[in-house]
Amino acid sequence: MEKLQAALEKARHKRSTGTPPDAARPAAQPQAPTPPDDLHAMWQAVTPFEEVPEGLLRARRVVTRQASPSATPFDILRTKLLVQMRQNNWRRLAITSPMPAAGKSTVACNLALGLGRQRDMRSILMDLDLRTPSISDFFETVPPHEIRELLTGEVSLQEQALRFGDNLICSMAAVPESDPTRILLAEDTTDVLQDIEERYQPDLMIFDLPSVLVSDDTRAFLKNVDCALIVARTNSTRYSQLDICEREVAEQTNVLGTVLNAFPYGDKA
Ligand SMILES: Nc1ncnc2c1ncn2[C@@H]1O[C@H](COP(=O)(O)OP(=O)(O)OP(=O)(O)O)[C@@H](O)[C@H]1O
Ligand SMILES: [Mg+2]
Repeated sequence: MEKLQAALEKARHKRSTGTPPDAARPAAQPQAPTPPDDLHAMWQAVTPFEEVPEGLLRARRVVTRQASPSATPFDILRTKLLVQMRQNNWRRLAITSPMPAAGKSTVACNLALGLGRQRDMRSILMDLDLRTPSISDFFETVPPHEIRELLTGEVSLQEQALRFGDNLICSMAAVPESDPTRILLAEDTTDVLQDIEERYQPDLMIFDLPSVLVSDDTRAFLKNVDCALIVARTNSTRYSQLDICEREVAEQTNVLGTVLNAFPYGDKA
């Protein structure tokens, strides 16, 4: 535990003194604003979720739909991310971890629903853990089309995604892909994301990605983001894994920070 916390300190220091990686995505260019009424109509045209019961979300540890004491840590994380991202004009955030089951999807869903409470913001959450997609399980909702069909240009975001409230769009997968690296590396994917960003003008796009140390998928995709959040898990993530993961991610994008998930409250060690 001490080693992991020391590693987090080290990473924080490095970020505050480091320079952006050469391979980082170029800074976003100002976009021609779509008239507000048109933009509102485009977002409203995305099919809304059927009601997602609060009990289901809580059972999956998604606690941010309403403000509450349990939502507060995620709200603090959300605000910290927003401040840093706005300062740098970053709009695309990857969430990854060294190894599986660190809590990436839980963090991604909590951040997304917390952002949904910001009435003045629009956000898009995409499940790009294409080998083991899980966001659709969090909402117990099967998307009308697979996210693969969106990324390969077969269907539009309006056809593929679902809307949570007025200002959060979720693009999910129900069926695992057998060769996701090909999709995540493709130029078509880069173009589709660019098109979505121009048309829907989200303030933030969150990409739930696989773990760095188990496949090439995250490495293949990181060129498409502005920054990344790394999730480490108490009593599970090793210092050496976090160190390798942090270095690999930093080669391709800006490391925004590391979340130490499942840290027991009351443990003063
Ligand atoms: N802070 C926490 N405390 C207890 N359990 C948690 C916590 N965060 C996540 N979990 C649980 O751990 C499991 C893995 O979480 P999650 O699916 O978010 O991880 P993941 O990193 O996305 O996993 P994968 O690599 O399989 O995509 C889930 O059962 C989740 O409910
Ligand atoms: Mg996951």
